[in-house]
Amino acid sequence: MGKPKVVLGVSGGIAAYKACELLRLLTESGHEVRVVPTAASLNFVGEATWAALSGNPASTEVWETVHEVPHVRIGQSADLVVVAPATADMLAKAAHGLADDLLTNTLLTARCPVVFAPAMHTEMWEHPATQENVATLRRRGALVIEPAVGRLTGKDTGKGRLPDPAEIYEVCRRVLARGVSEPDLAGRHVVISAGGTREPLDPVRFLGNRSSGKQGYALARTAVARGARVTLVAANTALADPAGADVVRVGTAVQLREAVLKAAADADVVVMAAAVADFRPAEYAGGKIKKKDGQDPAPVALVRNPDVLAEISADRAGPGQVVVGFAAETDDVLANGRAKLLRKGCDLLVVNEVGESRTFGSEENEAVILASEGSEVQVPYGPKEALAEAIWDQVAVRLQSRRA
Ligand code: CTP
Repeated sequence: MGKPKVVLGVSGGIAAYKACELLRLLTESGHEVRVVPTAASLNFVGEATWAALSGNPASTEVWETVHEVPHVRIGQSADLVVVAPATADMLAKAAHGLADDLLTNTLLTARCPVVFAPAMHTEMWEHPATQENVATLRRRGALVIEPAVGRLTGKDTGKGRLPDPAEIYEVCRRVLARGVSEPDLAGRHVVISAGGTREPLDPVRFLGNRSSGKQGYALARTAVARGARVTLVAANTALADPAGADVVRVGTAVQLREAVLKAAADADVVVMAAAVADFRPAEYAGGKIKKKDGQDPAPVALVRNPDVLAEISADRAGPGQVVVGFAAETDDVLANGRAKLLRKGCDLLVVNEVGESRTFGSEENEAVILASEGSEVQVPYGPKEALAEAIWDQVAVRLQSRRA
């Protein structure tokens, strides 16, 4: 099998320089990349850079090497087209099927998955014209990644930044691995909690747990690549923001509950992958707790935290909402999992066996997905991303049947 063929479209925005990094990541991971810049984008990054980094010519117009019919051939033979950055103008042209240069022609002839990574000023992104163009492209099966929030050109900040090239690369890798052009979670809002809560005892100490957040982040990344709008409620994680996800940072179980309930109000799916502390200290000491000579430490009294999964399951935003929980068990894994599924009232419970070196912080996981109607799907030991895809497969089936 030859190398996967990727077309990297670059349109005329200042973020064009970040596409150099995306190109490197693609070529270094074994992809054959053809860069198709727009004429405007050459004001930011020149043709020589694209040709040198990709090892292929980088033309902007259909009039070069006409005998090779590049305006048809490049799109037809691609396994993936990614446009990064995609300007407001590029989104408008793509939505309306204009074909006045090599990139827009390529977009019309491509039959493979197409990913747009928009970057522009907040006003341009929020303008109804742009939003309608984005909706049109998504309706037709393209994956349009939500821009990140942060520093824009000049001094202003807001939504419109090109996500980190490494994270755009992650989306491309997953879309290529799936190999299907229709993102099956398109139009769905999914809420994922990730990480582990910390319950403060005093300003410097907390009760916490060993969750890294990697499984929740893998769920967020795979959901973006399958077209979902993703809200990621992240508790004390130190991982890069997934491209396209709206990341809400929280610390404690009570904060996590508030953020999840708020986002869940219009969500199609809620996945509780976070390790939420069941208890918190009854008292918070405003100053650091000091040891006292000759005295035993005072016992720490705990109170129960709200059970977010049980609450979301019992009080769903709509009859079609799918709720997924996780269970980490050390003994009688399946029996405990079944009992927990019933107790929590969710649709799916992902049960994994945990121990000192298993699961926490690792890149891999093994699990059984238990369903409320009795089915069990065994997911063999492998990357957390594979488990995430298996979970979305189960969720997608349920979303389909509830819509039907
Ligand atoms: N969970 C939650 N709120 C809590 C505790 C847990 O939403 N206060 C969610 C977790 O995100 C996970 C699931 O519930 O999806 C299972 O958590 P777990 O701590 O294993 O369940 P418990 O009910 O605490 O069961 P046990 O203490 O018996 O293991």
